Amino acid sequence: MGQSNYQLFPINSQSTDPLDDADGNVDDYTTVNNRKKNILRWIILAVVLILIIIVIIIIIVVVVNKKKSKEKATILVYNCSENSTGISNRKVLFIIADGIPADVLERAPIPNMKKIQGIGKYKRAYVGGDVGTYSETATISAPGYINLLTGTWGNKHNVYDNKISNPNYNYKNIFRLIKEQQINGTIGIFSTWLDNRVKLIGEGLAQAGNITFDFKFDGYELDLKNFPHDSQSLYINHIDQHVINETVKCITNNGPDASWVYLQYTDDMGHAYGDSLQMLDAINILDQQIGQIYEAIQCRINQHKEEWLLVITTDHGRDIHTGQSHGGQSERERTTWIIMNHNETNNYFENFQPSIVDIMPTMMRFLNMKIPLESEREIDGIPLIGPVSLVKPDLNLSGNNLTIKWKTLNKTGNVKIWLSTTNLFKIGLIDNYTLIGDVSIENEIATFNIEKYVSNFYKIILDGEYNMVNKWISR
Ligand SMILES: *[C@@H]1O[C@H](CO)[C@@H](O)[C@H](O)[C@H]1NC(C)=O
Ligand SMILES: *[C@@H]1O[C@H](CO)[C@@H](O)[C@H](O)[C@H]1NC(C)=O
Ligand SMILES: *[C@@H]1O[C@H](CO)[C@@H](O)[C@H](O)[C@H]1NC(C)=O
Ligand SMILES: *[C@@H]1O[C@H](CO)[C@@H](O)[C@H](O)[C@H]1NC(C)=O
Ligand SMILES: *[C@@H]1O[C@H](CO)[C@@H](O)[C@H](O)[C@H]1NC(C)=O
Ligand SMILES: *[C@@H]1O[C@H](CO)[C@@H](O)[C@H](O)[C@H]1NC(C)=O
Ligand SMILES: *[C@@H]1O[C@H](CO)[C@@H](O)[C@H](O)[C@H]1NC(C)=O
Ligand SMILES: *[C@@H]1O[C@H](CO)[C@@H](O)[C@H](O)[C@H]1NC(C)=O
Ligand SMILES: *[C@@H]1O[C@H](CO)[C@@H](O)[C@H](O)[C@H]1NC(C)=O
Ligand SMILES: *[C@@H]1O[C@H](CO)[C@@H](O)[C@H](O)[C@H]1NC(C)=O
Repeated sequence: MGQSNYQLFPINSQSTDPLDDADGNVDDYTTVNNRKKNILRWIILAVVLILIIIVIIIIIVVVVNKKKSKEKATILVYNCSENSTGISNRKVLFIIADGIPADVLERAPIPNMKKIQGIGKYKRAYVGGDVGTYSETATISAPGYINLLTGTWGNKHNVYDNKISNPNYNYKNIFRLIKEQQINGTIGIFSTWLDNRVKLIGEGLAQAGNITFDFKFDGYELDLKNFPHDSQSLYINHIDQHVINETVKCITNNGPDASWVYLQYTDDMGHAYGDSLQMLDAINILDQQIGQIYEAIQCRINQHKEEWLLVITTDHGRDIHTGQSHGGQSERERTTWIIMNHNETNNYFENFQPSIVDIMPTMMRFLNMKIPLESEREIDGIPLIGPVSLVKPDLNLSGNNLTIKWKTLNKTGNVKIWLSTTNLFKIGLIDNYTLIGDVSIENEIATFNIEKYVSNFYKIILDGEYNMVNKWISR
């Protein structure tokens, strides 16, 4: 506030404003009345000036943001009346939007995601496995993606950081399960990050099933010509929009059976600015992009009589202090969310906090595809649609007394209890499971003496009518 501004104000020559006092201009003739009036005028002046400054700041912020010229969504007109690929009229598409804590999403402007939730469901979810146990998994991107792809935690897929140095491909991802079951099934991947296809899924690798994507649009972070890098990560914003454009074209023209769309800009804004307007702005852009995908899906639903399951989620939350970092096991880093365009969720989804590993078995169930028994025994997730028999397995080994507990969600049928003393699946072999019990599912508890199964390690399967769950225990 410059002193010169005060001259705009009709200064009374008898002013004894404190500011004048500070200048040493004390006026001896002032009445109390005048003094009051003057003080009031100065207060009004100060308020007006503060308002003007606020308006100027707002204008500057708006102009600067416009200059940054972010790729805003454009309305595309789709014509999806021509082609359809794949084996079924049931299709799945999942979107991982990187690094958005649930509390931030819940207060962000997201009209399109709200619309999808309105038709389907929204729920807080979690990542990171079970804290302090063998399944604890870092709240980091690549482990998060492969949690989703395989329906297992880090102790199985063996991806604990973004280097992805030694993933264990014995735990099959959804694309491989589809391809191995339906040779004509079509799969698509849309992502800046090349590692998603080449390392996490292991396209073309014999040990990863040598699968090939029918539609692939990725690796743009390596395309420095079309997407030159800048310190503000605007290139990631442009790449995301390019990924969206390719997704929309591919869904419209080809309608693959299963697709993965990965979008990164939100995580870059999170790392740079934490809990901030920039983050909310990035989520708003994301929402417009998701709106474009949703339009393309609607087009196929209407013109092809297809059924589409759309799942939108994130790979991790962020720290509570700044919102800039992640990787640990704090509540906020672990808390994520799931949006689906499907409203027929089961009582597991409704009454428990679902997790990222639940998404893969959910999609397989939607596609009416069976997960081979050997793989199903390893999956840590529970389908979020259709009936579920039991959840939350719990083991206690006291000497040779093994106590097994679970929560029953559907009383139909018994629960078969299987035990293996080996973990040969990990190295690509088959474990020898012994049936140790066939008990009423309503009991929610069973105790066994396992003296004759001498081992320091046990894998237990609880096999219900509609789903199975597994748990490990070591001596
Ligand atoms: C959509 O495609 C169909 C079949 O090729 C064509 O007949 C129709 O004119 C197209 N509509 C638009 C709006 O492009
Ligand atoms: C896959 O598609 C080819 C060509 O359309 C067809 O000949 C073959 O029978 C299909 N295979 C299966 C298992 O559906
Ligand atoms: C992978 O599959 C392709 C055909 O899709 C085949 O040509 C190639 O030899 C296979 N590679 C390996 C390592 O199995
Ligand atoms: C995405 O598509 C829109 C509409 O065709 C186009 O205007 C925009 O430039 C495209 N953006 C990118 C990054 O490809
Ligand atoms: C339909 O698929 C064929 C073969 O993949 C392709 O050549 C054609 O361009 C597609 N049509 C549209 C409208 O995308
Ligand atoms: C669920 O969605 C279906 C189809 O979109 C609709 O007919 C039904 O009314 C919805 N059910 C609920 C409980 O919203
Ligand atoms: C396991 O069972 C034993 C014996 O019943 C009990 O003392 C112990 O507290 C239990 N451990 C846990 C973690 O529940
Ligand atoms: C195991 O259970 C039996 C009876 O069910 C009990 O007598 C014994 O003390 C238990 N052993 C341990 C180590 O908990
Ligand atoms: C159990 O599942 C069956 C088959 O879907 C269903 O008919 C029944 O209502 C379910 N029971 C409960 C309690 O959810
Ligand atoms: C599997 O385990 C059972 C019970 O421990 C044993 O009798 C059987 O010989 C084992 N089979 C193989 C192939 O190892």
